[in-house]
Amino acid sequence: NALVKSIYRDPGPYLKKEIQISGWVRTLRVSKTFGFIEINDGSFFKNIQVVFEETLSNFEEIAKVTTGSSLIIKGQLVESPGAKQPFELKAQAIEIEGTCAADYPLQKKRHSFEYLRTIAHLRPRTNTFSAVFRVRSLVAYAIHRFFQEKGFVYVHTPIITGSDAEGAGEMFRVTTLDLEALPRTEEGQLDFAKDFFGKETNLTVSGQLNAETYSMAFRNVYTFGPTFRAENSNTARHAAEFWMIEPEIAFADLEDDMELAEEMMKYLVTYVLENAPEEMAFFNEFVDKTLLSRLENIVNSDFGRVTYTEAIEILKKEHDRFEYPVEWGADLQTEHERFLTEHIYKKPVFVIDYPKDIKAFYMRLNDDQKTVAAMDLLVPGVGEIIGGSQREERLEALEKRMVELGLRQEDYSWYLDLRKYGGTRHAGYGLGFERVIMYLTGVANIRDVIAFPRTVHNADF
Ligand code: 4AD
Ligand code: MG
Repeated sequence: NALVKSIYRDPGPYLKKEIQISGWVRTLRVSKTFGFIEINDGSFFKNIQVVFEETLSNFEEIAKVTTGSSLIIKGQLVESPGAKQPFELKAQAIEIEGTCAADYPLQKKRHSFEYLRTIAHLRPRTNTFSAVFRVRSLVAYAIHRFFQEKGFVYVHTPIITGSDAEGAGEMFRVTTLDLEALPRTEEGQLDFAKDFFGKETNLTVSGQLNAETYSMAFRNVYTFGPTFRAENSNTARHAAEFWMIEPEIAFADLEDDMELAEEMMKYLVTYVLENAPEEMAFFNEFVDKTLLSRLENIVNSDFGRVTYTEAIEILKKEHDRFEYPVEWGADLQTEHERFLTEHIYKKPVFVIDYPKDIKAFYMRLNDDQKTVAAMDLLVPGVGEIIGGSQREERLEALEKRMVELGLRQEDYSWYLDLRKYGGTRHAGYGLGFERVIMYLTGVANIRDVIAFPRTVHNADF
């Protein structure tokens, strides 16, 4: 009975036919002898209009139905005299499946995104969120299609881990113990020997290190799952729980990595434009008026490329614009990233070869001994959407870096084995799933593209 999307796409086969629609009332207007119901059947973000007349045996009862109620309607689809939609459903019988209490918060007016976040359990019933989350589902599917069509193997990397892949120390600890009662080791560290895993564990910040192990067997792999970061930054682009897509490719370098990322981004843009044209047109009208022109452009243009060092030179000339200082060796802030992609390049741009000290331990050291073979992809409206690198495949160089950073080799012995046992050049990247949804829909806040956002002081629902 989830027909509405098919009807919108091609009403022909349904016109003048008896059909049944079940769904939720978005609005109901009634006069003495007839009424109109806008009903949403869940298959589409648009509603279908139902007309009912006093000839219905339960006309009085239906006339009192309130917004939010669920109904089952049998009727005939006819061409509509009204200009707003080409068809409507003339009801022959309406059955009430579930009534809706009078304090239902979603009434027929525009609610702000901020307000809708406070009712995250009800917001998928609005047309905007219906469109956003249908596109989110579609993009997840498109990502799997892209990699599967290329022969990549999907690896399920663990959520609970004992290592800090990014070395940023922003982890949520996993424990069954009362930390107050925990003994200390001789070095004064909490001793997790009696904990469930017998060691300190945390929620993963990235599946990369585990994905690398499978890359050394299957060659091209990807992982796609939730990741967790206890970043205390209250921004529109950071969540404590977000999904990440991480491909890892063997016998490959940074150039191959960027080519894959660019091809994937173009595939995803093309996929949503072709498979969700109605939703995309809706976003372009109500969320971001430049969305479609921006996305259509990227499919046909080459992404920009700039080294970190060159980017710093460009940004230094504009330093007056920025809140944060621009200096070789400092990380690029969102304002810098957005300036580069929105004002200088006006398209997606890869920034490569970052200073080693602001990047993770596993990135391959460049010949200058100061920078690493890293790449971040910056896109207009969002900033950093992808972070990746060529990995350090040389055992000695990797060990040296780990010593410099104070990482304990025994914690990473399995990771070092990859370099000892037939290691190859390899590379990979992480695409932030919520960030790509923001990019594709024009929605400006990460809280509005993940069903139940987890951010600082917010783990409701
Ligand atoms: O740049 P990041 O930290 O890279 C990694 O985790 C690598 N291990 C990836 C890899 O090479 N396999 O994160 C990758 C992407 C970022 O570019 C961003 O899009 C997203 O993940 N991301 C976040 N998205 C939402 N909220 C956060 N707190 C995020 N942190 C990173
Ligand atoms: Mg990054």
